[in-house]
Amino acid sequence: MITSFAYVGFVSPNAADWRTFGPEVLGAQLVDHPEGAVALRVDDRAARLMVHEGEVDDVAYVGWDCGDAVGLADIVQRVRAAGITVVDDSAAAAVRQVEALAAFTDPWGFRHELTHGLAEGGPFQPGRPMNGFLTGGQGLGHLVFLLPDLDDGMRFYTETLGFLLSDHIEMGISLRFLHCNPRHHTLALSAVPGIVGIHHLMLEVNDVDDVGRALDIVNERSIPVAMGLGRHTNDHMTSFYVRTPSGFEIEYGAGGRVIDDATWEVEVYDAMSIWGHKPPAEPLMPGMLRPFAPADQ
Ligand SMILES: [Fe+2]
Repeated sequence: MITSFAYVGFVSPNAADWRTFGPEVLGAQLVDHPEGAVALRVDDRAARLMVHEGEVDDVAYVGWDCGDAVGLADIVQRVRAAGITVVDDSAAAAVRQVEALAAFTDPWGFRHELTHGLAEGGPFQPGRPMNGFLTGGQGLGHLVFLLPDLDDGMRFYTETLGFLLSDHIEMGISLRFLHCNPRHHTLALSAVPGIVGIHHLMLEVNDVDDVGRALDIVNERSIPVAMGLGRHTNDHMTSFYVRTPSGFEIEYGAGGRVIDDATWEVEVYDAMSIWGHKPPAEPLMPGMLRPFAPADQ
């Protein structure tokens, strides 16, 4: 089974901008990468956030930790049973610094890497003074995918990949929140007809003061904010959304609540936020989107 979100890689024409955005704005640690990508650490593991130079902003790969070799074999079998080709990729495993890696492309064209054993990378040294990111068993954070059809997405991520429903938000648009460990959601899905993309990546820090400090830095540098400071109804995260150099947003937050499956009850919310999360006067449109036609597959 998938136990956590291990890492993510993007391609972007603005990859070089992450060499300052990563450490100076996010507080991540910049390290060398064997392929020359921008590689960022957020904890004592090897790099979890990579940005490769490329022509168009897009997701290159999403890495999932499956716990161990048995968990990896189990999820590979489930993906194959869904009629999807899965290939062992030892070359990618070496670059990502994981013990094993099996890769597949999902029905919407995203490359997923099923892994275990992301290497230790020594003590985390933040790019600027801050009190660290909340990772460990909760993984890197969460990702929000935009897919053309919510039911198709739910079927794939719950029935094939084994994610569990945390709750939903119904407010004209529908959002489904999914978990695979105590983090309230590791994935969220929303539907936009004819469109595939990533809306945001969430990184959680240990100290809410670091959310405020990061927002100060973002404002000092006039970096666009897609949603101001606010607190979410469902995961209780206090966060803001900053536009990255690559068109998608990073939600930078603290104080997310955790799920105990023994007692958790799925709820439906009619709003995204308890307070705040206001868009700017001129709203930013999500930038990392591409048209989707099933015939392209
Ligand atoms: Fe989020």
